[in-house]
Amino acid sequence: MPTQLAVEATGLIKTYPGGRGRPDVRALDGLTLTVPAGTVHGLLGPNGAGKSTTTRVLTTLSRASAGDARVAGHDVVRHADQVRRSIGYVSQGTGADVLLTPRENLAMTARLRGASRSASLDRAGQLLDRFGLADAADRRTGVLSGGMRRKLDVALGLVDAPQVLFLDEPTTGLDPEARASMWAEIRRLAGEDSLTVVLTTHYLEEADRLADGLSIIDRGRVVAAGSPDELKAAFAGDTLTVDLVEPDAVLVRSVAARIAGLGDVVVHVEGPTGRLVARTPDGPAVVGPTIAALQAAGVRHGAVGVSRPTLDDVYLRHAGRSWTAAESAATSSGSPDASPDGSSDGSSPHDATGTVRVERSEVAR
Ligand SMILES: Nc1ncnc2c1ncn2[C@@H]1O[C@H](COP(=O)(O)OP(=O)(O)OP(=O)(O)O)[C@@H](O)[C@H]1O
Ligand SMILES: [Mg+2]
Repeated sequence: MPTQLAVEATGLIKTYPGGRGRPDVRALDGLTLTVPAGTVHGLLGPNGAGKSTTTRVLTTLSRASAGDARVAGHDVVRHADQVRRSIGYVSQGTGADVLLTPRENLAMTARLRGASRSASLDRAGQLLDRFGLADAADRRTGVLSGGMRRKLDVALGLVDAPQVLFLDEPTTGLDPEARASMWAEIRRLAGEDSLTVVLTTHYLEEADRLADGLSIIDRGRVVAAGSPDELKAAFAGDTLTVDLVEPDAVLVRSVAARIAGLGDVVVHVEGPTGRLVARTPDGPAVVGPTIAALQAAGVRHGAVGVSRPTLDDVYLRHAGRSWTAAESAATSSGSPDASPDGSSDGSSPHDATGTVRVERSEVAR
């Protein structure tokens, strides 16, 4: 169903009782979402934003207090059975039985869904091959690596060949190699099967690399939606940086002033080195002319870089606070679902994007 919507949700509200005299928690606050079929769609938001709640409502596991949602064309309340038959769901925690082997886990799930014994074993075999788990197929799931277990979880979500696969934080806690391998797998799933994948993540880099479309969620609402490139394109232009050797700042400024397409030029000089930083509508296009002009004026230079706006910038503009501030606010307020994962994970998204953020904010000021 290439032109249809796999998910269409309007004005979802979900409140949870606060408990012990505390006010109710408004986990979803009028969330609206559309996901075209056959795409990978990211629900990106900091801890406690409402990503898992959205997923639970869309997978019929939880009922919204208000609003409507259709998944694979079916209403999640009135036609919950049809929705369930159309989807796969991989929850934030692991779903596989650690005492069984991957093959047993897959075959058992297929049996529970009504497949015959031999069809279940066939399906298990296909999925094991497809996820590169054939060698580990008959070892106990509990002894597999985190990456292998998470792949098994995703395979379990595919046993019934769903139209829409919901993955809640598929790569949290995985090391960078296992994460990259999972990304490749998810892209392949969406590409080959015209399956729709809706995944939640609080990794900016994951959202950027993997998602065709993104809904950035903050405090139970979608604050921005579009492809990663569209969202970043709102920040007209790139940042150009040129490292300089023993620069004459006055000369560099006067050279830069004559280069078409460079604006907001700043020349930092620190001891024997320096750096030219400028904004430009099209970074790659100005690299050549900039180097040529500097060389013609006898300015010696080192590395030249062009950096694009990041999803950090997008989040800051739309949510009105930085990603790091949002994540630490959620962690310190003690969200019950605020993962043991996000904060303690050594390969945290903040490490991956921190350098970029610092560089960009320097430029912005
Ligand atoms: N069962 C529940 N009872 C009470 N409050 C809940 C419950 N589940 C979620 N919440 C609250 O609803 C809000 C949204 O939680 P949700 O789990 O949807 O966030 P999330 O975006 O998935 O976060 P994370 O990145 O930590 O997984 C949070 O404030 C959370 O504390
Ligand atoms: Mg969650």
